[in-house]
Amino acid sequence: MIAVLGSINIDLVARSTRLPRPGETVAGSSAQSVPGGKGANQALAAHRAGAAVRMIGAVGRDMFREAALSILDADGVDISAVRHTEKTTGIAVIMIGEDGENMITIVVGANDDLTEADVDKTLTAMAAGDILMLQLEIPAKLVEYALRLARARGIRTVLNIAPATLDVPYLAPLADILIANETEFELLAAQRLSSSEAQREALLNLHARNGQTIVVTLGAQGAMAAVEGNILHADGLAISPIDTVGAGDTFCGYFAAALDRGDSPEIALRDAAIAGSLACLHPGAQTGIPRHADIRVHTNDPA
Ligand code: RIB
Repeated sequence: MIAVLGSINIDLVARSTRLPRPGETVAGSSAQSVPGGKGANQALAAHRAGAAVRMIGAVGRDMFREAALSILDADGVDISAVRHTEKTTGIAVIMIGEDGENMITIVVGANDDLTEADVDKTLTAMAAGDILMLQLEIPAKLVEYALRLARARGIRTVLNIAPATLDVPYLAPLADILIANETEFELLAAQRLSSSEAQREALLNLHARNGQTIVVTLGAQGAMAAVEGNILHADGLAISPIDTVGAGDTFCGYFAAALDRGDSPEIALRDAAIAGSLACLHPGAQTGIPRHADIRVHTNDPA
């Protein structure tokens, strides 16, 4: 079983030929409101990858809450641990340019209302070996609390250090598995990494500190990971991305689901890299998340 402790947002997405500069207005070509939030996206991805998933989160009692939960609910993610609070549902205002570049502003709203009691309720019912997955769009103190409780109970933890915050240095060592994109990985390594050799060296050094599995997503170049003293690499698919929002979350969900199933880190990395690529082929963070059958088309694994 996988529990995801994290954010649930509504994404207000505007597309334009190019992103505006500060103080500038540009004409948009489309606008949409779609379900999102790193926590919710990762929960959905893990579920679509075949895992039993419970979402621990919070939404407001407002016009956005139903829409924010609609895809999780329709797909069958367990949302019984999602609480309703008096704040507004989390909102991400996302601007996307024609080249796929994006800018995001997040108003955390109800995501900020998650409490230790919310964490306790689910974690005390989990078994040793189950997986808890987290990101950084909820209070850092709660992430710390959940990581410590999970460790004490033998629950495996996957921390996606996104978005990169100043809390990363003290939270990162508390997780069993870290997932970062290249920018987040630089923050973790506390240095600029301008070549793939420098990335590999930093990855091995960080991994050597405490044996933690560390995964770095590399965009079009796939992903690499340091696991038990080795560096693994998996390619993504050669694609022309339409929308990269949620691709990292898809990667995380697929990676966790593969580990939950007992797959090797190599297979987990391979499936996650393919899933992350496929997620870029559709607009919307959640609508683009592939199903496991879509991954098998590329791996030739039996159903
Ligand atoms: O990772 C993508 C997500 O980040 C979006 O769905 C948005 O809600 C922000 O949280």
